[in-house]
Amino acid sequence: MVFLSLAIATLGSASAVIAASTQSPPVRLRDLVKRAGTVTGPVIPTDFPDPGLILPNGMPPWYVYSTSTSHGKVPFAISEDFTEWTPIQGDALPYPGIWVSSSNSAVWAPDVRQIGTNYYVMYYTAFSEADGNHCIGAATSLTPAGPFIPQAAPIVCDAAGGGVIDASGFEAPGGALYLVWKVDGNSKGQSTPIFIQHLAADGYTLTGSATQLITNDPVDGGIVEAPSLVYWEDYYYLFFSSNRYNTLYYDVSYAIAKSATGPYTKVQAPNAPLLVSGDCGTAGPGGATVINVLDRYVNAVFHSDINGKNASGGRDMWQISGLTLSNGVATVNCPKK
Ligand SMILES: *[C@@H]1O[C@H](CO)[C@@H](O)[C@H](O)[C@H]1NC(C)=O
Repeated sequence: MVFLSLAIATLGSASAVIAASTQSPPVRLRDLVKRAGTVTGPVIPTDFPDPGLILPNGMPPWYVYSTSTSHGKVPFAISEDFTEWTPIQGDALPYPGIWVSSSNSAVWAPDVRQIGTNYYVMYYTAFSEADGNHCIGAATSLTPAGPFIPQAAPIVCDAAGGGVIDASGFEAPGGALYLVWKVDGNSKGQSTPIFIQHLAADGYTLTGSATQLITNDPVDGGIVEAPSLVYWEDYYYLFFSSNRYNTLYYDVSYAIAKSATGPYTKVQAPNAPLLVSGDCGTAGPGGATVINVLDRYVNAVFHSDINGKNASGGRDMWQISGLTLSNGVATVNCPKK
């Protein structure tokens, strides 16, 4: 019902535009809906970094999950309308797993995907005592609120590369599941390639081998990270952040491909980055999660520095409703004042 009224409301205003210009080519419903793309925030005005987003069963409430804060290991919040967000509801991953260092047990950048009816998988980053680096873990739950139950061992580690962080899931058209992540090379003065690998139907067993999608170029300030992959109308859009997260150079940018495993081309100015400091009032925007909602529109969440300068004052959550993706170009609008 929420979707229906949104579609009709958007269609109504867009129809008026079409009627005024008889020269316009035919426009499909999907194109009308996605023109609504709007950045707003903060929508969770407290520390809520690296948010992950899902719409369980395609029906509200929406769920968002954050990096560990004073609110818990993986705090989560919900929204019935993708406009108003509740205060933080609780901790979706109170116990991150036997493999996680007990003295350094913060969880970074959780991402949750619904794999089937009553089956959710969370991908997350934590420090492995045995590996001596950050690794990617997986945890499963019957409900989006958890508590998610961790696997006994991490699913990806890469000590030679400097550890691995920022994993997220992706379901390709046709249902194939993938995991994408960043090799944390900047922790060792090395490059930061982003990889993809196929997942079995359980959502956490990796199969085949990993493929590199992009890595950092000089313009990226030594870092690409926080990958989030989404498919829309013949293109795969790999959103990522570049530069150091603790600076105002942090951003949300993207690369495009015609296949999930690439090759990917980083989109360049003026069509990228999607968001840099100052856009729509953001500061150090990054850590975005972008999702295709039932093939109807694309929504995203990301964080921005609360103090307007760096991450030390915390990072609050912002959102993008109806992110516009068209022919390999992503665009957003700021709310009209
Ligand atoms: C972050 O910004 C605050 C507020 O301006 C400042 O006091 C602090 O020194 C900055 N920290 C870093 C690491 O730059």
